[in-house]
Amino acid sequence: MKYNFHKSKLYQTLARVSEGSFARYLSFHLHQLFQKLNKYPNDIVIETASVCNLNCTICRSVKAELGRKNRFMSLAIFKKIIDDIAPICNTIGVSFCGEPLLNRDIFQIIRYASDRGMCVSMLTNGVLLNADARMGILDSGLNFMAISMDGATKHTYESIRIGGSFDTLVENIRLLVKERNQRKLPHPSIDLQMVITQKNIHEVDAFAKLARGLGVERAYLKSLHIDRSREDVDYVKNLEKDYFVNSTTLPARYMIDKKGNLELKDKGLCPQKVKTPVITTDGKVLPCCFDIFGEHVLGDIANQRFLDIWNSSKYINFRRNLAKHRRLPMCANCLPSDYKTINKILF
Ligand SMILES: C[S@@+](CC[C@H](N)C(=O)[O-])C[C@H]1O[C@@H](n2cnc3c(N)ncnc32)[C@H](O)[C@@H]1O
Ligand code: SF4
Ligand code: SF4
Repeated sequence: MKYNFHKSKLYQTLARVSEGSFARYLSFHLHQLFQKLNKYPNDIVIETASVCNLNCTICRSVKAELGRKNRFMSLAIFKKIIDDIAPICNTIGVSFCGEPLLNRDIFQIIRYASDRGMCVSMLTNGVLLNADARMGILDSGLNFMAISMDGATKHTYESIRIGGSFDTLVENIRLLVKERNQRKLPHPSIDLQMVITQKNIHEVDAFAKLARGLGVERAYLKSLHIDRSREDVDYVKNLEKDYFVNSTTLPARYMIDKKGNLELKDKGLCPQKVKTPVITTDGKVLPCCFDIFGEHVLGDIANQRFLDIWNSSKYINFRRNLAKHRRLPMCANCLPSDYKTINKILF
């Protein structure tokens, strides 16, 4: 695990040096230190789309009425956010409850943040990475891309990622890696990830082999999250019964208690130290990516500056009392405190 971390860091360093932007690399890390010292957010997730082209069996966000006013974040609001947060945070993600590649401004969105020295990452289902989208991504300055691939065969993948085409995805990834390498671009670094469930547990080795063959930088397994912050008996029961893997060797954030209920393995303090806010397509500021229903709105970027929201008594109270001590339903289900140990890096 450590090796992979260093490999990834080394990759970034070499990428930036070879790009002739070592000064930028140095300034990036000094900025991160500044963020830490000043207790600013570690990174900020900006939801660029709250709708999806797939309907994955494990994903709750597409099964719920999220109630967002805008399904896509506009370029104008995005620019306002970036201008606002640039002095205090230089790491952003552009995915939350939907598929970012559905936003027709996504490449300009990434370019805008990248031109302001931000490190930008994207989580995507990758299905829409056709020739135009690949060119858009490679021209955008995106630093990291993680592609969700919950199976190593057509049957398994398509029975979990409903609406996705395994063959199309594999070809998209193969061409993205090839075109990036042909253009000698240092990024995006490309990862493949699989949420481990009963449905794909037999394909772990095949997944690693497939990922290696595609030439991506990393492949890893993620643990299943079962959101129980709201009543939805069918969703929860289905995931508990047919998807959850009770394992000590594979990623699992829950264990089964004496009464047979799923419990987080360790319920210490907030794993993200309440320092990873989300801004939704309609500009609402949420405490973290587990608030998929947007129940804990701490401010609105449409009429407030980010730092005013971050320093408001509402946010301070949330950080101190609610999240830190896991007093909310979503906090009881999210991640163990030492969550970094539960993902398994395959290479
Ligand atoms: C909600 S998706 C949004 C980005 C994009 N649509 C995608 O699928 O990558 C973000 C990530 O959440 C993961 N995910 C969805 N449902 C999950 C669950 N129940 N447990 C763990 N991860 C889940 C997806 O596999 C994906 O990696
Ligand atoms: S592609 Fe992503 S957002 Fe869409 S349903 Fe699947 S996991 Fe959810
Ligand atoms: S759900 Fe609660 S404990 Fe978990 S990351 Fe979010 S704020 Fe922290």
